[in-house]
Amino acid sequence: MNKSKINVGLIGWGTVGTGVSRVLINNFDLIRQRTGIILELQKIADRNVPTMRKGVNIESSRLTKYPDEVINDPNIDIVVELIGGVDDAKDYILKAITNGKHIVTANKTLLAKHGQEIFSAAYKNNISVCFEGSVAGGIPIIKALREGFAANQIQAIYGIINGTTNYILTQMSDNVTDYQQALAEAQEKGYAEKDPTADVEGDDAAQKITLLTSLAYGIDMPLENVYTEGISRITQKDIQYAKELGYVIKLLAISKFSEGKIEVRVHPTMLPERSMLANVSGVFNAIYVVGDPVGGTMFYGQGAGQQATSSAVVADIIDISKGILNNSPIPVPSCWHPDNTVSIPLRAINECQTRYYLRLIVVDKPGVLAQIAGILGQHQISIASVIQKEQHGLNTVYLVMLIHEAIEAKMQEAIRHIDELEVVKDKSMLIRVENDL
Ligand code: HSE
Repeated sequence: MNKSKINVGLIGWGTVGTGVSRVLINNFDLIRQRTGIILELQKIADRNVPTMRKGVNIESSRLTKYPDEVINDPNIDIVVELIGGVDDAKDYILKAITNGKHIVTANKTLLAKHGQEIFSAAYKNNISVCFEGSVAGGIPIIKALREGFAANQIQAIYGIINGTTNYILTQMSDNVTDYQQALAEAQEKGYAEKDPTADVEGDDAAQKITLLTSLAYGIDMPLENVYTEGISRITQKDIQYAKELGYVIKLLAISKFSEGKIEVRVHPTMLPERSMLANVSGVFNAIYVVGDPVGGTMFYGQGAGQQATSSAVVADIIDISKGILNNSPIPVPSCWHPDNTVSIPLRAINECQTRYYLRLIVVDKPGVLAQIAGILGQHQISIASVIQKEQHGLNTVYLVMLIHEAIEAKMQEAIRHIDELEVVKDKSMLIRVENDL
């Protein structure tokens, strides 16, 4: 080693950026002792006039409003992008790459949409780009997929990778609150945004499972091909009925490889109450990865927030620094490598096969169950169990069914017919069931 000092520049001094600056400064000695690397936080750019942050001891001369002062600083080796969003972040990263800077980012949206472009620039310029903080905060799942499972054929990934929705569903389950109330609590606690759409409608989880799928199977997974359904239609009744049947409802991101195809979907899922994932509560994240030969492995931890995410970001900075000092950059992931030729067909949601929970609100009169069962039968759909629950309205009741494994297209077609029946009084609720977890 003829150089052990690495200079870091940070763009974006928000929650995570502040955490990263704090770790770099406060754990300076620890990092040096452990790695032999002197990590110097040279400059921080934030579009708001940066004011000092509590617990971050840095000279004001190192603060700037202008990202270019970081990107163009010849002394800076690694640029850490933590502004989020797509367009500006992409511009800054591409410029920094052209300037020979290595990159650390936690920007899942950017990579899920433009991973190929970012990494093709990185490849051309012999640059390392790391992004551990982009999925599941402090859980080192990206490193696990890239390194720990390098010898495995990944068979499935099941993830609770959105803390906000997991908090909402946990509140609904533990405290019998309805969806709106649980969402309001999540907003009060700062977990959910004022506009919670990206979390509650599953888009955040879809971006994360896109990245995990790309890494797991070595394909450039298109975000738009991830079937995405959120939790906003889940009612307190569904949570209760699921419980009575021995299940817990979670927003699950699933990526499965079977019979030569990959299926990727995000949707509310009923899990057996004793499964490990069913017991992941509150804002915590967990990812269950099944590989051959490793078998099932479970990762659990904080999926967001200042502390957890800064742990991942600084680990990336250290990895890249080691690469700089040893003259061996972190390789471009095979999914975004220009020479990548892996192509695996995707299974569309319509071809997927699962079990289902079906909850209906129907008129309570003779022959109703027969009509519904008839439609299911016509679509080769087999009922596993059926319970008529308590009254819904004056003359309406809840009807809950568990359906044996069926093909999604058939199920959707049957539901369309069922919802058109005069005796069916509201849009039905369909929740997919995963029994093998
Ligand atoms: N909003 C995300 C969550 C964290 O609730 O898990 C950032 O990806």
